[in-house]
Amino acid sequence: SADVSNVMIYFEGGTDNIYIDDFVLREAPVHDIQQDIASLKDVYSDYFKIGTATTAKELAPTSTQNLVLKHFNSITPGNELKPDAILDQKACLAMAEAGDDENPQVNLDSAKSILNFARKNNIPVRGHVLVWHSQTPTWFFKENYDPNGEWVSKEKMLKRMENYIKNVFTAIEEEYSDVDFYAWDVVNECWLDDGTPRKAGSQEENSNSSPWVQIFGDNSFIKPAFEFAKKYAPEETKLYYNDFNEYMPNKTDAIIKMVEEINSDGHYIDGIGLQSHLDVNFPSVSVYKNALDKFCATGLDVQITELDATVSGNDEESFAKQAQYYSDIMDTIVAQKDNISAVAFWGTTDDQSWRASKYPLLFNEDYTAKPSFYSIIDGIESTGTTTTTQTTSSTETT
Ligand code: GLA
Repeated sequence: SADVSNVMIYFEGGTDNIYIDDFVLREAPVHDIQQDIASLKDVYSDYFKIGTATTAKELAPTSTQNLVLKHFNSITPGNELKPDAILDQKACLAMAEAGDDENPQVNLDSAKSILNFARKNNIPVRGHVLVWHSQTPTWFFKENYDPNGEWVSKEKMLKRMENYIKNVFTAIEEEYSDVDFYAWDVVNECWLDDGTPRKAGSQEENSNSSPWVQIFGDNSFIKPAFEFAKKYAPEETKLYYNDFNEYMPNKTDAIIKMVEEINSDGHYIDGIGLQSHLDVNFPSVSVYKNALDKFCATGLDVQITELDATVSGNDEESFAKQAQYYSDIMDTIVAQKDNISAVAFWGTTDDQSWRASKYPLLFNEDYTAKPSFYSIIDGIESTGTTTTTQTTSSTETT
């Protein structure tokens, strides 16, 4: 993109020579984005924040930045604040050699371009994620930070967890105190669809297994994670438990029971994050609504954290079906607006989505708005709960 400097190109090979021919590096072309359409964040401004997730690579082109600036007032770094992006193995090993192997060292460099963009444009940030079974290196859980070593004890892992959380919040305070981290996902994806905890094990054995469960025996690591986050996070940062397939009935109940138990002797969890990776055929809007209403009834804040809705084709009929589904889902969310503080999509343009082959987002690869975009703006006009505001915002913006 235009403001990149000190570009380095790195080629990696084996013992053979590599010949590079006809290599060209040029600035990403800047496409016009549609300026004459409504801005999502303005349309929904009376209700909740409208967010998107982005990786540093995705946000590099100026056109994507312009699209994000027009429509979104919340950014979730897609990968850059996950433990595998933040943990600094070299520094951890050096610290361990110096006698302290309970104090994981962190480095926020990979999140730099996204956080600088948020700072420059005053866009609030959802931090994602502190404690997760996935995208967390196995060595973090092992003696001497050795991936082939023994699992550490529960006592040692609690110390590592506390220091990791402390070090992340300290680094953010030191480097980004002027970025508005309004939310953090403290713990992600601990329950299976049947409402039981994950199985013990490393990611290498099975990507669904949890090293946390391996060490703690069950989901008892979740409460301390929130206690530590409460202790070290700035007061204005709200703390969330986040999960997917949150509408599977046993999972809905397990999450609600857990947050109520954890909060029974204090207020550790501020809210519940519903990822909402949906498909036009499942869950049905009524299944989704049923779960959403239950989560909202807890009285905790609810955020929709990773919304996308796949569809099998990109023909007119498929996109019309997707638009109707998005519209109905957004109506359901708007009906609970008093309990919901943010609705964040997991990505901006279809081609960059983790589910790109099923066109799950609101914008096409060429940055134009899809029927789903228009349908969720119409949805606002037709929900009819706060007619005056809705009419005003839709006429102002369309
Ligand atoms: C989960 C995680 C996200 C992301 C998506 C897939 O939903 O919470 O961070 O990794 O999977 O991209």
